[in-house]
Amino acid sequence: MILCFSGTGNSLYAAKFIAKIIDDKIVSINELIKTNSKGKILSDKPFVFVCPTYAWRIPNVVDKYIKQSVFEGNNKAYFILTCGGETGNAIYYIKKTCIEKELDFMGFSSVVMPENYILMFDAPDKIKAKEIIQKSASHIKNIAENIKEGKITPQPKIKFSDKLKSGIINKVFYKFIINAKGFYSTNDCIGCEKCTALCPLNNIKIKNKKPFWGSRCTHCMSCICGCPHSAIEYKNKTEGRSRNYNIGDHIQ
Ligand SMILES: Cc1cc2nc3c(=O)[nH]c(=O)nc-3n(C[C@H](O)[C@H](O)[C@H](O)COP(=O)(O)O)c2cc1C
Ligand code: SF4
Ligand code: SF4
Repeated sequence: MILCFSGTGNSLYAAKFIAKIIDDKIVSINELIKTNSKGKILSDKPFVFVCPTYAWRIPNVVDKYIKQSVFEGNNKAYFILTCGGETGNAIYYIKKTCIEKELDFMGFSSVVMPENYILMFDAPDKIKAKEIIQKSASHIKNIAENIKEGKITPQPKIKFSDKLKSGIINKVFYKFIINAKGFYSTNDCIGCEKCTALCPLNNIKIKNKKPFWGSRCTHCMSCICGCPHSAIEYKNKTEGRSRNYNIGDHIQ
């Protein structure tokens, strides 16, 4: 079973690619979190977790979801993190979670995809984004074939700076940076409620045809990148920045 969390579609693209090769189904962690579904997850094939990298680690919401769930059937687990470039020492924390959940850790792989964190960085334009996704195809294929053959993925080399990024800097990032307060809708908003539907944490409510953000946010970028009218901005950071959403869907 492939368990996928994805804010803007990069990880979903990788998950779909892997699903085709290993002939397995995808279960959306976004939906499981959104519908507050907890409990047993049963699979006779290995669990393959696919998600983005947030602050050099698996997103906190995904880690929390794994810790709250019970995995039965097969206990092997692979982890694939899509990223803009660096996953730091994410593997260390994934292994810890596996030990806690009695999952047999089979490997960690990172896949470079288009940067989506537009609250902090420029995202590539659509042409560049498609090029990055196309470039990742052979790497994703190798990962999937390894999983199909039941191979253990070789471990990445970890530097001291990686330990710092995934350790203390990750903690500071979640404490001081992750906040929904800066989101607002512009006059281009038509009140279609797509942002409400997209938010995995049910953090957006519509009142008088306008979205309002609550305090549960994990900066997944789904609302701001998925709005069909580009009618969402964040503080003074995002105006004019490209937004890519599910761009890889058309590529495979
Ligand atoms: C909150 C946040 C934090 C991120 N932190 C990192 C990071 O530490 N390293 C990295 O390479 N990319 C980072 N990124 C980029 C994403 O991991 C990357 O674009 C990913 O492919 C997005 O996947 P998705 O489209 O499935 O949500 C971050 C993105 C967000 C939204
Ligand atoms: S998705 Fe965009 S247009 Fe639709 S309600 Fe949300 S902000 Fe408005
Ligand atoms: S409010 Fe937007 S960025 Fe925050 S979790 Fe919901 S969809 Fe993601």
